[in-house]
Amino acid sequence: MVASPAPDLPSADPQQAPVRFGVVGAGFIARWFAEAVAQEPGAQIVAVTSARAERAAAFAREHGVDSSYASLTQMLQAHGPDSTQPVDVIYVGSPNSFHAEHTITALEAGFHVLVEKPFALTVAQAQAMAQAAREADRFLMEAWLSAHEPGVARLRETLPRMGRLRRAVLVKEQRSSRLDAYRAGKNPPAFDPAAGGGSLMDLAVYPVSLAIHLFGTPDRVTATGHLLDSGADSHGTVVLTYDHGESSGLEVVCTHSKTSPAGAGSFIASEQDALVMDDCQWPRRIELRGPAASDLSGEGDRGAARNGSRGAGPQARQDLSVDRHGPALGYELAEVCRLVRSGARGSSLHPVYASIAAVDVLAQARAQVGVRFPADECGQPR
Ligand SMILES: NC(=O)c1ccc[n+]([C@@H]2O[C@H](COP(=O)([O-])OP(=O)(O)OC[C@H]3O[C@@H](n4cnc5c(N)ncnc54)[C@H](OP(=O)(O)O)[C@@H]3O)[C@@H](O)[C@H]2O)c1
Repeated sequence: MVASPAPDLPSADPQQAPVRFGVVGAGFIARWFAEAVAQEPGAQIVAVTSARAERAAAFAREHGVDSSYASLTQMLQAHGPDSTQPVDVIYVGSPNSFHAEHTITALEAGFHVLVEKPFALTVAQAQAMAQAAREADRFLMEAWLSAHEPGVARLRETLPRMGRLRRAVLVKEQRSSRLDAYRAGKNPPAFDPAAGGGSLMDLAVYPVSLAIHLFGTPDRVTATGHLLDSGADSHGTVVLTYDHGESSGLEVVCTHSKTSPAGAGSFIASEQDALVMDDCQWPRRIELRGPAASDLSGEGDRGAARNGSRGAGPQARQDLSVDRHGPALGYELAEVCRLVRSGARGSSLHPVYASIAAVDVLAQARAQVGVRFPADECGQPR
């Protein structure tokens, strides 16, 4: 363990301060993370650890990382604030079942943490992670990238124009690249309950988190799904019902699958308008349909041309598509660097309580579908 917490980053020129990462895991998402770091000014990966030391070493060679380690503890000990190469933030990109353990270990050692989605497997784990961040007075955020995407910002801006919301259908369905390995008798974490895998934790987390982000915590959760022989779920539906507050009367249908591709996009509808998007993880093609899409400026055709709308009344359409640039994790990483440089302890856009709420919804859904993880049995926070 590292004895003293990492000092806050220098405040003299906060825009330029380096943000130095230690990476846990050397798999698919760690590669995406390295690609984003390579393009983010001031960001740098100083060290990496993985389950197999040789995988960590290979990742270090491939991405120009100076140091690799056989364990997280070794990495933390070597990169404390008084070391020659201090690390500021630990990026947890290990399988789902390790998120709580790796996050708490890093926080207790005095490091800030960015942890991949899903935040945790159980509410007990999620609450223990939040408590560890509070006690260590360190930054903690779940890497649910959607919160920082320009397309989700566009949804946030547009929803208030639509009036009371009634229905949303949020689709996250993509055939897993690990499905063939699973069918061939291997045991990839993505389909292994012992690793916290399955469609609810890996994919339903996107629509469920988006619903919580946009509409708040639902009052009721109703889930159905299908189990594979491994005990992980392959696909299913989670219905979120809002009975109280601003979202009262809204029903959100979250569909998810790791065994079939998506055949449709997502939408959010009020009584008169529908906001249609291509993908609920990172919306890019977005269109508002209905009266709210009509010219808002009162300038007739000229105003309509300016805001990209056409038609009138129920037939009106407004193209609200966004361009996104750069690597997949680029927007999220830029925000983490900004927050850590500013001394923040979390993100107001994606606060830890929203991550805990998503874990709670997914745990309720798992209980209804019959997906059990070892972490459910022991009740331990790690
Ligand atoms: N944000 C996104 O868009 C996104 C996309 C995909 C995945 N994810 C999330 O990222 C996480 C990893 O997914 P992935 O697809 O990258 O999986 P992956 O390709 O299987 O990689 C997982 C990595 O974790 C390492 N690992 C396993 N146990 C470990 C331990 N005890 N300590 C340290 N490292 C350990 C593995 O080590 P070895 O290679 O050494 O065996 C492997 O390198 C999951 O939580 C997943 O939900 C997020």
